[in-house]
Amino acid sequence: MKAIRLLALLLFLFGAVTASAAELSNIEQLGKHLFFDTDLSVNRSQSCSDCHAPEAGFTGPDSLVNAGGAVYQGALPNHFGNRKPPTSAYAGDSPVLKLVDGAWVGGMFWDGRATGDRLGDPLAEQAQGPFLNPLEQAIPNARVLCSQIKQGAYAGLFQEVWGAGSLDCAKDAGGVYVKVARSIAAFERSPEVNPHTSKFDRFWDTARAHGKDVSKISCGSGPQGCGGMGRDPNRWSTFKGYGLSDEELQGLAAFNDPNRGNCASCHRLKPGPQGYPLFTDFGYDNLGIPKNPDNPFYSMPTAWNPDGYDWVDYGLGGFLKSAGYPLEVYETEMGKFKCPTLRNVDLRPSADVVKAYGHNGYFKSLESIVFFYHWRGAMDSGCMGGGMGVGGMGGGMGCDGMAGMFPPPEVDRNLASMNMFPRPLVDSIVAFLKTLSDGYPQQ
Ligand code: HEC
Ligand code: HEC
Repeated sequence: MKAIRLLALLLFLFGAVTASAAELSNIEQLGKHLFFDTDLSVNRSQSCSDCHAPEAGFTGPDSLVNAGGAVYQGALPNHFGNRKPPTSAYAGDSPVLKLVDGAWVGGMFWDGRATGDRLGDPLAEQAQGPFLNPLEQAIPNARVLCSQIKQGAYAGLFQEVWGAGSLDCAKDAGGVYVKVARSIAAFERSPEVNPHTSKFDRFWDTARAHGKDVSKISCGSGPQGCGGMGRDPNRWSTFKGYGLSDEELQGLAAFNDPNRGNCASCHRLKPGPQGYPLFTDFGYDNLGIPKNPDNPFYSMPTAWNPDGYDWVDYGLGGFLKSAGYPLEVYETEMGKFKCPTLRNVDLRPSADVVKAYGHNGYFKSLESIVFFYHWRGAMDSGCMGGGMGVGGMGGGMGCDGMAGMFPPPEVDRNLASMNMFPRPLVDSIVAFLKTLSDGYPQQ
């Protein structure tokens, strides 16, 4: 009796929770089924969400994996890809990969190889990758995938969305595969995956309601790294009272200010189609991130990785080369990776879960990657803080003891140049990045 009452209570709670979540359209709901269905893998053990878990901001949720190689095993044992899963949320506005004023923009994956040329939508094109990738869900072909879906509980929903008879695996497995991809992309673009419910988003709304443009926030002058004084109408101190703490505001200002972190020159603060910033320009850069020595791909059999530990990830340049572009096109792109959104960078299942950062997961905390930017900026400027008018670093402290702080870049060319910013701003920027997690209580 007790058990029945408990069950009834649980059912009620479950109903209440699902009812309060954003309503999904039929195609989004279908995409959600496909995204979470472990039956859609060779031994029914893996779904997209194993590597893109909502509670980890739609990236890898496994602390041990993240703390080491940061690459997730596919459905088959000892089958590893070569990169860290980026978030699959907030990715839907990346355009088809193309050259814009001499720089590559758009596409999907760290190297842009899901260009979007084939389906006119990089997100849908990406969604076709994992199911048949032998190092991921490893299903032999589209026909097997189709029959698996046909046996699934949502086969009816599929035909509701795509028409009666649309699940014809014998005649049209390829067409079904495209519909699968478009359904997943619809889910990935839904409000459930892109809710804009972070502390930052509430601040953005409140500041806007007071006539303030957050995309213009700057440090202002003053004695410290981000002084907030002076006459600049957009200095951070003029944004007080709209929901962010002083430290978070200084971090945001340093993030945006071209004379400090200058992060927003790539991780854009300009609002996207939904009216909120996406924290990316969908462009490609080489930050000079070192190799991750624990990457399991180094010890994959030669059939997958003939180069062993000497394997180098050339990112976009490597893709363009393999796609047949001439040397003068790919050479300048060697070592560049797609600039990721920073939404949910800190979101994790619990505080003790490690998250990895960068295309190979070399960094194990936000502090360490932001410190790396600080270090890169210091190296680029010869550690001469005073000369750059940024203040705080002291006039010309020299590079003593700093030069060897990080191993050499994986690809030591086409490096993006970095601004120097004072050490204390590393902590402020990290505090700001932590405001980008969805699920902040909404009033
Ligand atoms: C075994 C782990 C794994 C599985 C399973 C997996 N992914 Fe991924 N995903 C990755 C990795 C790793 C990358 C980056 C690969 C690269 O750039 O070469 C990635 C990249 C992506 C991206 C690109 C994001 C961007 O901004 O470029 C999206 C979107 C995505 N995955 C969605 C999916 C979907 C949808 C599925 C299921 C059909 C799926 N993933 C299954 C590991 C996985
Ligand atoms: C020149 C463009 C550029 C600038 C400037 C820049 N970034 Fe990045 N950022 C990138 C690219 C590209 C990557 C991915 C690089 C890689 O993995 O090799 C990245 C990765 C990151 C990541 C890891 C995200 C993840 O999911 O793995 C964080 C965090 C980050 N940047 C924060 C910052 C901060 C903070 C600043 C300013 C101090 C900054 N970025 C400045 C382009 C830039």
